[in-house]
Amino acid sequence: SSDLKGRSAPVGDASKVGWPTFHHAMLSARTAPCGTSDAPLPLIIDSDPGLDDALAIACAVVRPELNLLAVTSVGGNADVHHCTENALRLLHLYGADDVPVAEGAVGPLAGPLERATEVHGEGGLGKTVLPKSPRVADRDGAVALMARLLDGSPVPVALAPIGPLTNIALLIRSFPHLAPKISHICLMGGSVGEGNSSASAEFNIYADPTAAEIMFASGLPITMIGLDVTHHAILDRTILDRLKLLPGASAKVAAELLKFSFDRSAAWGQGEKMAIHDAVAVLHLALPDLVGVARYHVVVDATQGPARGRTIGDANPYRLKRDNLEPNCDVGLTIDSARFADLMVDVFAKLP
Ligand code: RIB
Ligand code: CA
Repeated sequence: SSDLKGRSAPVGDASKVGWPTFHHAMLSARTAPCGTSDAPLPLIIDSDPGLDDALAIACAVVRPELNLLAVTSVGGNADVHHCTENALRLLHLYGADDVPVAEGAVGPLAGPLERATEVHGEGGLGKTVLPKSPRVADRDGAVALMARLLDGSPVPVALAPIGPLTNIALLIRSFPHLAPKISHICLMGGSVGEGNSSASAEFNIYADPTAAEIMFASGLPITMIGLDVTHHAILDRTILDRLKLLPGASAKVAAELLKFSFDRSAAWGQGEKMAIHDAVAVLHLALPDLVGVARYHVVVDATQGPARGRTIGDANPYRLKRDNLEPNCDVGLTIDSARFADLMVDVFAKLP
């Protein structure tokens, strides 16, 4: 292309540039716990199923290092009633009717209602209609169920929020005495680089910045699995051929969900691929060496301006010292992308 007074613009593939941050944080030891087959990690997933949520929940059901105690729903990708029904039907499909489901917040603590139905379809699972679950959701609701499970657990429980953080903020504010029973919050959300809902903000934070602000300021141990790492957890059409060889109905549904996403992404000129954001947050709690992290101080812009929902991550030692700030979370930065695709196939090979 020629512009700039006739000089040709520099030619090159911008996608080869590393993430757009000047300070390349040093990777550090993870602070998130990691389950083992001998001692599976007790885990609650808070979710807005959701195409990638569906794959993340499958990981939690299958991985021997995780003990999925519940799935709670939150409005996000679709209306919360769709998300609740999707959680019930996905767990039924995966043969996990023993995992309780409870419905949470319809929308954010403050600000407008945000949805991602343009990505996930009106009902949240593309055009896929799953068989009904024989169960209904727990009548006490998401926050009460999370509190009951935390209170009743003999050991602290990890939370994996993979949708807007409204339920998590309500849990923190409604049951502060249960904070010691939360072993870690490993969320899918945020980005120290660019956003996706806006140039500034990733959807889960953008949908409820106030809730995210409450969580990041809570002092609880946090791992932020943001777009910086999830944009390297990509599946493309080759996964469909691998899933097609698997016997279970779950693998066929996964192929359907992925095909819907690939078609949408291609129609938008973004290539036939999908970042399986949420599965990275869940797999980080099952595999010690899949994701590389660094320590950041993260705050959220909860204003209603153009940076609304931005997670402002700082790892620069000079600035942190100058501003008397300590890092408050691990941020995911690297992942073994090839291994990730194999892990997804392995999960669906083990599902009915
Ligand atoms: O930005 C990606 C996140 O938003 C994922 O959790 C996806 O499911 C959507 O909720
Ligand atoms: Ca999600």
